[in-house]
Amino acid sequence: MNNYKYNPIQEVEDDGLTIPEVGEWGKEKYNLLGYYAELFTKSMRDKWGNLVYIDLFASSGYCKIKSTGKIIKSGALIALSTPIHFDKYIFCEEDKDLIASLEKRIERDFPKERAKSVFIQGSCNEKIDEIIKNIPRYSVNNTVLNFCFIDPFNLGIHFNTVARLGAYQLDMLMLIATGMAATRNEKKYQSPSNDTISLFLNDSSWRSDFSGDADMKNQSFTQFLSKRYKSNMIKLGYTQVADFHDVRYKHNNKNVLLYHLAFFSKNPLGNKFWNIIRKQYTGDQQALF
Ligand SMILES: C[S@@+](CC[C@H](N)C(=O)[O-])C[C@H]1O[C@@H](n2cnc3c(N)ncnc32)[C@H](O)[C@@H]1O
Repeated sequence: MNNYKYNPIQEVEDDGLTIPEVGEWGKEKYNLLGYYAELFTKSMRDKWGNLVYIDLFASSGYCKIKSTGKIIKSGALIALSTPIHFDKYIFCEEDKDLIASLEKRIERDFPKERAKSVFIQGSCNEKIDEIIKNIPRYSVNNTVLNFCFIDPFNLGIHFNTVARLGAYQLDMLMLIATGMAATRNEKKYQSPSNDTISLFLNDSSWRSDFSGDADMKNQSFTQFLSKRYKSNMIKLGYTQVADFHDVRYKHNNKNVLLYHLAFFSKNPLGNKFWNIIRKQYTGDQQALF
């Protein structure tokens, strides 16, 4: 499939702790996350004092693929399983049971990394101060490079939260729930009492921009959100925003868009790595299914 020996998709046994179900297409996200994390840790290990993994929607570390019943490691444990480890892991998850299961799995399977892990239960939008407090302090003698994974079910990540992290040396892999949420809920979001998109873009006047943007004529809500998100990130200093990666699934012979995976780095090397991973991975994407 590609040149890597490391494989992010690792099957595991049911251990009696909580295991959420996911669709088959989750594997594409996990592969891209794992391969990026592996390349990041391998290439940056000797260049930085501290490599930090931050997961804002961490879940429990295991998931069950609905169609096959197979249980695999999910995002948080994929990040812990790279051959070269991060120096610190910061996990945030709203659900008490999921984060407790993640903590137990890390205690059991990664005891050394447990000592380097922080578990924050609650909404990442509310806990952002605590998340940031746990990022090691940067100095000339103690440099810090962060990799943040943002993997919500919907558009519930506030741009203010992302902007707080944007103040750090930080690469970001983010799921933008375009098909899963934006397309399905466009009408609901248009209602003036709904603040989902205002918080997602940190812009309460987005409705008039969407209807009035000349470039946006004949373009979809999803395209509007993608364009606005890119321009928001450019303003944060993520000047080289890569094209978003589409994740689709086959339904009634159509390739339906589920979500975009967006990658943001302030360093051209980050984008170079992301493009390498994407090209190698998507070269044989069908093999997954
Ligand atoms: C798509 S799942 C994440 C999957 C996870 N990255 C993985 O690989 O297994 C989204 C998770 O975010 C949690 N969640 C929802 N809203 C949240 C919020 N505002 N802050 C933190 N976690 C949240 C949900 O409980 C759920 O476990």
